Amino acid sequence: LLFTAVAFTQAFAQDSDAWDQYHFSTWSPPGPSDVRAPCPMLNTLANHGFLPHSGKNISEIDTINALSTALNINQTLGEFLFQAALTTNPEPNATTFSLDNLDRHDILEHDASLSRGDFYFGDDHTFNQTIFDETRSYWTAPIIDVQMAANARLARVHTSNATNPTFGFTQLGQEFSFGESAAYILVLGDRVSGTVPRSWVEYLFENERLPLEVGWTRRKEVITFPNLIDLLERVVNATGIPLQELKRRGDFHAGL
Ligand code: HEM
Ligand code: MG
Repeated sequence: LLFTAVAFTQAFAQDSDAWDQYHFSTWSPPGPSDVRAPCPMLNTLANHGFLPHSGKNISEIDTINALSTALNINQTLGEFLFQAALTTNPEPNATTFSLDNLDRHDILEHDASLSRGDFYFGDDHTFNQTIFDETRSYWTAPIIDVQMAANARLARVHTSNATNPTFGFTQLGQEFSFGESAAYILVLGDRVSGTVPRSWVEYLFENERLPLEVGWTRRKEVITFPNLIDLLERVVNATGIPLQELKRRGDFHAGL
């Protein structure tokens, strides 16, 4: 057994591609002491072991490697996302974050999520099927396009605004909100046409697992910050409110 383990480890050490592939075929749900995030993709990467399965003490290199290996996200975008995550760790001078740090409201976490409740209602991080069903109802065809993504997001904003007396976005929260709708198109779908199969997106949210068994594969083109901004702007434009106006509204109870 020891020999097998050593041989196995050496085989992977000599062939990091094989090690990368290994995580695509490995998946297990969080155990009782594992922590998870309000982010369906980070949870997915932890469930596959691209990130520590515990969800705890995630370093910059862990983050960059996981986003690159699993999703073909480049180092610059990986560094940016890690630095954003680090701001949610309450410990001073932290160099790592844990997935549950991301629950902290109005740092990155924001109201009107696509699949989570608002902080006001008591749980801003657990997948919520009722809320996700509202989102899904705006994905009206088997291929989601930018307009459907914008419609789904805006519907959640309207619902939160109508039901949550504390509803509001910080400017960063609003940018993340648009960025997340852009991200599921970019990372799972086609950045040029701005489309993604609905079944892949639903599979990711509902299973917190990469949608390999429904046909997704890691995107062949490297994913960059400008790619994300481009799609974000397309989602903003499809929302029908100019970006400058959205920025001006900034930190207030926006009746979007
Ligand atoms: C949601 C952080 C990577 C897709 C979130 C949220 C946080 C977050 C804090 C919660 C926002 C909210 O809904 O209140 C991060 C960090 C990342 C990362 C720190 C990298 C280090 C990604 C990637 C994708 C992604 C690569 C690609 C698909 C999403 C989506 C949501 C989300 C679609 C919205 C979930 C919802 O509205 O229910 N992320 N994320 N994230 N993230 Fe991530
Ligand atoms: Mg939220």
